[in-house]
Amino acid sequence: MRSLIDITDFSVEEVTRVLDLADEMIADPARWRTAMQGKILATLFFEPSTRTRLSFESAMLSLGGSVLGFAGADSSSTTKGETLTDTIRVVSGYCDIIAMRHPKEGAPMAAKLCSDVPIINAGDGGHNHPTQTLTDLMTIRREKGRLDHLTIGLCGDLKFGRTVHSLIGAMSRYPGVTFVLISPPELRTPDYVLQSLQDQGIPYRETESLEEAMPELDILYMTRVQKERFFNEADYVRLKDTYILDPEKLRTAKADLRILHPLPRVNEISTRVDADPRAVYFKQTRNGRFVRMALIKTLLEDMQ
Ligand code: CP
Repeated sequence: MRSLIDITDFSVEEVTRVLDLADEMIADPARWRTAMQGKILATLFFEPSTRTRLSFESAMLSLGGSVLGFAGADSSSTTKGETLTDTIRVVSGYCDIIAMRHPKEGAPMAAKLCSDVPIINAGDGGHNHPTQTLTDLMTIRREKGRLDHLTIGLCGDLKFGRTVHSLIGAMSRYPGVTFVLISPPELRTPDYVLQSLQDQGIPYRETESLEEAMPELDILYMTRVQKERFFNEADYVRLKDTYILDPEKLRTAKADLRILHPLPRVNEISTRVDADPRAVYFKQTRNGRFVRMALIKTLLEDMQ
């Protein structure tokens, strides 16, 4: 039985198979309408979500399966003091697969160790978000036709942005990828992520200037400053609008740049950018449904 806790739990070849299947599903959704009939997905979200939870539920329903779960810890017996491991032991008797989001880093790994069914990490604290990364990889591959030989700018909250950490881990495995890490000093990429890049000899540089980086980028991955991870409101207020992408800042960008964002957006991309054909963040959300369909089928059938 396989789970997905970290994107590198899947080999590059396994990721490619999931992306290929997602492309087949998006091309002909009707073909998969009964693929997971009789199967149940539990979505256990101990933290808020719009895209991840609803796209997982939409994915399972689109495959003919069923869904159950909760959208906040306050509507579960966690409020009565039940431990995560007891919750997982119980819920794994009610379903065939679990997608869970939790504010504590490492919680999905703890869940995997006591679960009778596959666990999918739908975001753990400021650590990882592997299914967002599958969504990002699908979007980049569909937009650029490849995942190698790309210069990727990641901009904003690179410290707490779990989607950033997972995307760097995933893209590091493709040849010719260069990272430009754009953040204020307080929100720099964690040392463990930089160390991993150094150990693998993958080129990267850090800068505070989005304008300076813009002309060289093939992909610009904007992120929100993660308010919920700050200990101090004043620091959040000071840093939240460090980067605001607008049409003026895009004047020096490549014509075939693609702008991604895991969403939700706050202020970091002006709505005036939305009509730019290089802005693909809403396409990205739709890809998330199909790549999660492919992931559910892969974990429940192809990897059993
Ligand atoms: N991208 C993402 O994880 O969005 P949600 O928090 O809405 O699930």
